[in-house]
Amino acid sequence: MRFTPGRKKITSIWLWLLLVIAFLVALSQFTPHTSRISSWTFERPLQKETPSDVVLVVASQREDNTTWLQSAFPDWEKVVFVTDDENAANSVPANRGREAMVYLTFIIEHYDNLPRVAIFHHASEYQWHNDDPLFDGRRVLSRLQIPYVEQKGYVNLRCAWTLGCPAEIRPFDESDLNAVPTSPDARAGWFYKAAFEELFPEIPMPQVVGVSCCAQFAVTAERIRKRPRADYERYRRWLLETPLADSLSGRILEYSWHIMFGEEAVYCPNASDCYCNLFGLCNIHCEDEGNCRSQYTLPKYSQLPSGWPDIDWDGTWRNITELRTEQELDFAPRPSLASRQIR
Ligand SMILES: *[C@@H]1O[C@H](CO)[C@@H](O)[C@H](O)[C@H]1NC(C)=O
Ligand SMILES: *[C@@H]1O[C@H](CO)[C@@H](O)[C@H](O)[C@H]1NC(C)=O
Ligand SMILES: *[C@@H]1O[C@H](CO)[C@@H](O)[C@H](O)[C@H]1NC(C)=O
Repeated sequence: MRFTPGRKKITSIWLWLLLVIAFLVALSQFTPHTSRISSWTFERPLQKETPSDVVLVVASQREDNTTWLQSAFPDWEKVVFVTDDENAANSVPANRGREAMVYLTFIIEHYDNLPRVAIFHHASEYQWHNDDPLFDGRRVLSRLQIPYVEQKGYVNLRCAWTLGCPAEIRPFDESDLNAVPTSPDARAGWFYKAAFEELFPEIPMPQVVGVSCCAQFAVTAERIRKRPRADYERYRRWLLETPLADSLSGRILEYSWHIMFGEEAVYCPNASDCYCNLFGLCNIHCEDEGNCRSQYTLPKYSQLPSGWPDIDWDGTWRNITELRTEQELDFAPRPSLASRQIR
């Protein structure tokens, strides 16, 4: 095909347009304090979340029932990994290290394309460690104050201190170089110091490590990118190659995420402040700095009764709709002062 002079003109106009667009795109990458995603969507209020602003990253196994996620959080994208199914839409290189393998794989695979906020979560709606009177993860997540997460950069999804705070591991005191990594009664603390030296050679060994348990947290893209992708690849390689049992390597990372994302080794905000800032549950009654028992009480067993929450611990049926309504009235979420001050 031969170009007529007119066509040439049109082609050069298109070229100019492309250049201008490329320039604008490049410019938008340098806008301070806004993410790449929000710079594309500046005509909408920033506080409003779009699907790719928040991604819920879920670590599941084939036996888990994740249908509760389908109808929940319509504004959030969900990325559900299935660790024991290599044909799953989202799979991991090897089923090792429990949820840690999923979280690291998500970060590595999406490093250049991270959501503003990534929430890392387990698969079941009801789990003994979810910070809610019914241990309901859906309610925990529905209350999460995303602007607060963006302000802080990293948050743990539990405010209760029971298990993990104010001190879970004392690396120097517990380190045991002769401990057998596959022994059934092995404790993560025995191996923590050696692992920490390997994972975080740039960070001085902490005397005490504390963070509320159970490896569910939210973190911003900005915070994740404080480290190069190569770091996360190195952590995953460690997880793949370590002789430690999954329960131990997973536990070591459970008590490392906050440090990996730049927090102090003891990350234990006062529970009362934490509920208010993180979930908008302000002015709830707290027995001490780490416990507000109306909100979270450690259950008798880690296995919730079959039929929970409709079936109570003693096997009796209860009207859960009624109970939820009562609890919602007691602790009606309000936007916290902190989150209202943002932007
Ligand atoms: C999965 O959970 C949903 C409720 O979220 C329930 O309706 C469904 O029956 C469950 N599926 C299985 C296979 O248990
Ligand atoms: C938690 O911190 C707030 C202020 O940050 C303080 O008013 C409150 O007394 C603290 N609560 C406890 C139990 O320490
Ligand atoms: C449970 O309580 C709600 C609200 O009080 C009521 O509408 C519903 O009928 C009750 N369900 C059952 C099965 O009793």
